[in-house]
Amino acid sequence: MLNNAVLITGAGQRIGYYLAEHFLNHTDYPVIFSYRTERPGVQTLKKSGALGIQADFNQPGAVDDFIRQVKSQVNSLRAIIHNASVWLDDAAAQSFEQQMQLHVNLPYQLNKGLVELLYASESADIISISDAKVARGSAHQVAYLASKAALQSMARSFALAYAPKIKVNDIAPALIMFNEGDDLNYRQQRLSENLMQIEPGPDVIWQTVKYIMTNNYLTGQVINLDGGRSVIN
Ligand SMILES: NC(=O)c1ccc[n+]([C@@H]2O[C@H](COP(=O)([O-])OP(=O)(O)OC[C@H]3O[C@@H](n4cnc5c(N)ncnc54)[C@H](OP(=O)(O)O)[C@@H]3O)[C@@H](O)[C@H]2O)c1
Repeated sequence: MLNNAVLITGAGQRIGYYLAEHFLNHTDYPVIFSYRTERPGVQTLKKSGALGIQADFNQPGAVDDFIRQVKSQVNSLRAIIHNASVWLDDAAAQSFEQQMQLHVNLPYQLNKGLVELLYASESADIISISDAKVARGSAHQVAYLASKAALQSMARSFALAYAPKIKVNDIAPALIMFNEGDDLNYRQQRLSENLMQIEPGPDVIWQTVKYIMTNNYLTGQVINLDGGRSVIN
């Protein structure tokens, strides 16, 4: 049974993988993570000692089953990091349902279903990853941003509900990493949108997660990690 473990959803690639790998290599916290697809990163994390649980959270009963599996392997949780996400255009099939499931229902159920494991740690954090664009809106990603707005709202409400034992915060990033298929025009346009004009990469998320977890006076906050985008008109 794991003690003081960090649970990360959707850690098979990119930001989730980076966080899992850094917890394994730079802290003493055991790592437990969910993955949907068997990716090379999943095997690497397992070989490094992380406990991976396969789950497609769109399947009926998958969230309850995941909670049962976590409870059967973990005594206490130091943190839950709600990272799993889909980024769908409103025209995509089941766009609304899928994004509400992943960004709202899943974190809500995990926060409720695993709270006793968080209470069992000396200190505990819930950290969600939303999106800086919530503050502005998007004509074609209404459902995506509505679901991420709900995630930010839950950070505030769960902070109230679980204080003072558990801190609850949200990180709202702008561009962190491009996707493989993003073309040059799109990349240039996105880079020009913020003051820093860089693709910062996942280390800025790792820095913010560490900041949240080591600061015992920070809760109920949505941290804009947006390269200064929010101060541009
Ligand atoms: N990357 C950015 O620039 C950026 C900007 C703003 C906000 N964010 C936020 O930062 C977080 C990480 O971003 P990212 O770019 O690393 O995301 P990503 O590459 O899309 O990875 C998300 C993970 O979620 C998992 N997932 C998706 N649907 C699932 C389902 N139905 N059941 C279980 N797992 C599922 C995926 O599993 P599979 O491996 O099976 O696909 C994937 O590993 C997300 O919350 C995202 O919204 C990222």
